[in-house]
Amino acid sequence: MECVEIIGGKPLSGRIEIQGSKNAVLPVLAGCVLHAGISRIRHCPRLQDVEDMIAILRELGCLVWWEEDCLTVDASFLSGTVLPKETAGRMRSSIFFLGALLGRCGQADIPYPGGCVIGARPVDFHVEAMRSMGAGIDEAEGRIAARAKSLRGVEITLKLPSVGATENIILAAVLAEGVTVINNGAKEPEIEELCRFLRGKGARIRLLPQGSLEITGVSALKDSEHELIADRIAAGTYLLAAAVTNGVVTLGRMPVQHMQALLDCLEKMNIAIKKEGKDITVDCRKPRRGIEFLETAPYPGFPTDLQSPMMTLLAVTEGRCRLRENVFEARFKTVEQLRAMGAQITTEGREAIILGVPGLHGAQVRAEELRGAAALFLAGLGAEGRTQISGCGFISRGYENICENLKQLGADISVEE
Ligand code: EPZ
Repeated sequence: MECVEIIGGKPLSGRIEIQGSKNAVLPVLAGCVLHAGISRIRHCPRLQDVEDMIAILRELGCLVWWEEDCLTVDASFLSGTVLPKETAGRMRSSIFFLGALLGRCGQADIPYPGGCVIGARPVDFHVEAMRSMGAGIDEAEGRIAARAKSLRGVEITLKLPSVGATENIILAAVLAEGVTVINNGAKEPEIEELCRFLRGKGARIRLLPQGSLEITGVSALKDSEHELIADRIAAGTYLLAAAVTNGVVTLGRMPVQHMQALLDCLEKMNIAIKKEGKDITVDCRKPRRGIEFLETAPYPGFPTDLQSPMMTLLAVTEGRCRLRENVFEARFKTVEQLRAMGAQITTEGREAIILGVPGLHGAQVRAEELRGAAALFLAGLGAEGRTQISGCGFISRGYENICENLKQLGADISVEE
């Protein structure tokens, strides 16, 4: 899916179900190598990032197969600990194999995941943590080579509540000798989901009263079957698509309990929200109210992954909003593209000033990363006329069947290979 064309201006309506969580399943897939046996993951989303992780698992000697939306990984015959540059180098989640392979095999050789357009995205916290657990690590020629006779449990205090570093330490600690305590770890729902998956395999992980995570190493894990949580970022993106088009949309299988920051925001903007079990219906037909300030923060704050889609909604909401991105240092790449569609946005460091306009107009725009691509889809849905979005390969990394879903909600959208 390289290029998508959207004829905007049609209010979305109808019902779709939310996919399994991309940012939960990626560390879970790496976690499968910790067990020389079977791990079944139901409600697994079919995404480019998932396919890339499957390719790496197969390179390492695992058997992996789909049965409808259930993915099975058999890591009994794991034979490799060196990740291929071409697949692993292009996706950041390959970093999770550092902790998982050290935990299972005592060694790992992975390409440095590198940065991307939203920021440098270093992995120093990951490497420091592995060293503190007893791994010897060389970083040279764009690769991280790690070895450990045996990992030992330690107390680690993270400088920042890094999601990935927290997950990598958990993966390394599950089979380590002794107890690992993570202070100032991330609290995102995807962390709890990884712990739930690993507990289902016999890992010993508990949340301490002061909020730290304690992992007590075990000698082996067991076969398991896991039902994956729904994707709170995909869900939030569809809610924002309904809002941008002033539609009425019901989303099924919603992780409502993980979405309070966004739901609070939408309610402030006069969007009616009805919760019925795992369904949410948003009615966005009333005139929207603006918000003066919004900033991203680690969970349970407003998620950085919804900052770009939210920017699109703010661009067509009356009033002036100051939007601050606190997590990544370069996550305003979509601003130029939105301005080409008539948005009035200026940026200064980590802040964007958005002056809402009555509506955007179609244009030819280019996506540069996953959530910016989502923001451009929303802009095209709400804009008057035709929008052509190139660089849409990014969107298939994180949104399962997004064009089919949007068509089902009444969007006029076509894909050009
Ligand atoms: C995860 O990335 C998510 N990816 C991101 O989602 C998400 O935006 C991010 O967490 C924050 O919630 C996955 O889960 C696969 P971090 P991650 O480590 O783990 C700095 C999406 O669109 N840092 O919490 O890479 C880092 O530079 C993606 O789905 C270090 O300095 O995020 C950033 O400024 C984008 N050194 C901050 O911490 C390190 O060793 C937060 O990063 C690690 C991180």
